[in-house]
Amino acid sequence: MSEQPFLTHQVQLSTSAILGRFALIGGVVFVAALAFAYAGGWLSPGRLTPARMVAALSARGGNPLGHRRNHSKGVCFTGVLDANGAASRFSAAPMLAAGRYAVVGRFAIAVGDPDARDATGRVKSMAIRITSPNGQEWRSGMNNSPVFVVSNPRDFYELTTAQKVDPASGKPDPAAVKHFFATHPQSAPFAEWAQGAPWTVSFADQTYNSLNAFRFIDATGNSHLVRWSMKPTIPPTSVSHDALAKLEPNFLESDLNGRLAQGPLTWHLVVTLAAPGDPSNDATKAWPSDRQEIDAGTLIVQKAEAEADGPCRDINYDPTILPQGIAVSDDPLLAARSAAYARSFDLRTGESADYPRGASAAGDRR
Ligand code: HEM
Repeated sequence: MSEQPFLTHQVQLSTSAILGRFALIGGVVFVAALAFAYAGGWLSPGRLTPARMVAALSARGGNPLGHRRNHSKGVCFTGVLDANGAASRFSAAPMLAAGRYAVVGRFAIAVGDPDARDATGRVKSMAIRITSPNGQEWRSGMNNSPVFVVSNPRDFYELTTAQKVDPASGKPDPAAVKHFFATHPQSAPFAEWAQGAPWTVSFADQTYNSLNAFRFIDATGNSHLVRWSMKPTIPPTSVSHDALAKLEPNFLESDLNGRLAQGPLTWHLVVTLAAPGDPSNDATKAWPSDRQEIDAGTLIVQKAEAEADGPCRDINYDPTILPQGIAVSDDPLLAARSAAYARSFDLRTGESADYPRGASAAGDRR
């Protein structure tokens, strides 16, 4: 008899404990759902996520499935960096010490359509992965414009959205792109280059620039603000855009293969050191042309291979993958690039099972 009240009390305690546990579990689920919603951008539809950025890049015409979502049409190459050691006093990167280092790279045009005609590629690019014998990597994506079109990810998203292809006309709205440039004065140096720079029929005669600033860290731990370029050893041969537009659609790859059949192609890796006050976080601004330059060695491109089966296909040229002795700057484009390239890489490698990218698949699409 004396046990009854005790039991009742115990049952009451257990009920409230169980209710408490349910509340706790519910709370955890709610917080997790909130975290997912936040990460997915559902709570802040205006927030720029890598998924939104890459979706915008994917809406610029053509069928990008299985391909890079920007610089979508390209060709792989292999070669070596023959470093002369001259940049070693500014950076402890192993591939800047005198020696030869393996390179896997990719030339491309900055379009969203992997089947675009080469004549539509105003911006040409070179991406490289340089590997040192101890397994460190220096990945870099460089463009042939002297400055980038915007200084921050939000403006890049706005520009990309303005380039969206209207399914009815198959073309972007020229008024939207015009409006973007009219309302973004920072983009004027790029627009000037795009309007006035000579067109050429080759990847081989172009200078490719890192555009973003980076930091070289020397052996004593001192940091030096730098940008770098690949400068060709042949002069550019200018061609009118009208003449270029009449060429076959893939003239850049044909030109590359034709030149490499005669022998390797070379570029100087030139490192530019900033002077105090040069911007580290604004890729729309060129540094004055009298800055100290160091010729760090020669890139020797030996062989080209179609991207569909080539060694560059499954490389993500994320510019934040850097060896010891090189670090990112405070340029906000770098983190945005890293996140967007990862998203694009995930999509294109995931899609490859449904959209095989072997030679026949590429042939079908041409
Ligand atoms: C917020 C700014 C930027 C975004 C969101 C962006 C986005 C992208 C994406 C999604 C790709 C495809 C990546 C892949 O699938 O592997 C790409 C490729 C590329 N981007 Fe950017 N980009 C940005 C800025 C820049 C800048 C400043 C440069 C300066 C040089 C640049 C140069 C390149 C190059 C060279 C490639 C081709 C890499 C390759 O051949 O694989 N991008 N970009």
